[in-house]
Amino acid sequence: MQAVTNETLTLEPLTREHAEEMFDVLADPAIYEYENEPPLSVEWLRSRYARLESRWSPDGVNQWLNWAVRLPTQECIGFVQATVHRDRSASIAYVFSPAHWGKGLGTHAVREMLFQLESRFFVTSFKAVLKEDNIRSYRLLLRCGFSLATPAEHDAQVIPGDEILMTRRNDSARFARNDEMTVMTQ
Ligand SMILES: CC(C)(COP(=O)(O)OP(=O)(O)OC[C@H]1O[C@@H](n2cnc3c(N)ncnc32)[C@H](O)[C@@H]1OP(=O)(O)O)[C@@H](O)C(=O)NCCC(=O)NCCS
Repeated sequence: MQAVTNETLTLEPLTREHAEEMFDVLADPAIYEYENEPPLSVEWLRSRYARLESRWSPDGVNQWLNWAVRLPTQECIGFVQATVHRDRSASIAYVFSPAHWGKGLGTHAVREMLFQLESRFFVTSFKAVLKEDNIRSYRLLLRCGFSLATPAEHDAQVIPGDEILMTRRNDSARFARNDEMTVMTQ
């Protein structure tokens, strides 16, 4: 994995060194309105991030790719993540600090991750599962070229009743990158 930067933000491969600042980002209860809960402690997060540094699932089947998202001010504002499966499909997720919602930063960061997944990890289709009430996430995915899964796609997954599946294929409109990026080798 590589760090990727432009004038709007940087995606940094997530490591145990991010635990302290990410703990502060993830402590805000507003993030968990629809699902999940804050990390238990900095130590807990550090040990989780240390495991993620392998970039593989414990069974060695899937690539687990996680990036911290940083502003040019150096402030860390959240993370984006992808599970890349053997069939070159990827499941994505993302969390950003509520202090920065509504500025287009989430969309920008997810678009950059999708570009990296396509161009460097040869991903050909994307999935995201979200709570049906999570309108912010739904709208972000629409802006990133996702649409509601077909009934057949939905039935092929185990999706809880209060969640929806959204998908994006590379054979539709080719994904447009945010703008010109500089790639830095970590
Ligand atoms: C869902 C989440 C990632 C959205 O992040 P965000 O940074 O607010 O997303 P964006 O800023 O890109 O988009 C939000 C709004 O900013 C507006 N915006 C402002 N400037 C923009 C720009 N330059 N480009 C795109 N959108 C812009 C958009 O219009 C959008 O509003 P709309 O959806 O009403 O159209 C964030 O709310 C979050 O972290 N939630 C908690 C965790 C979560 O739910 N994760 C997803 C689980 S599936």
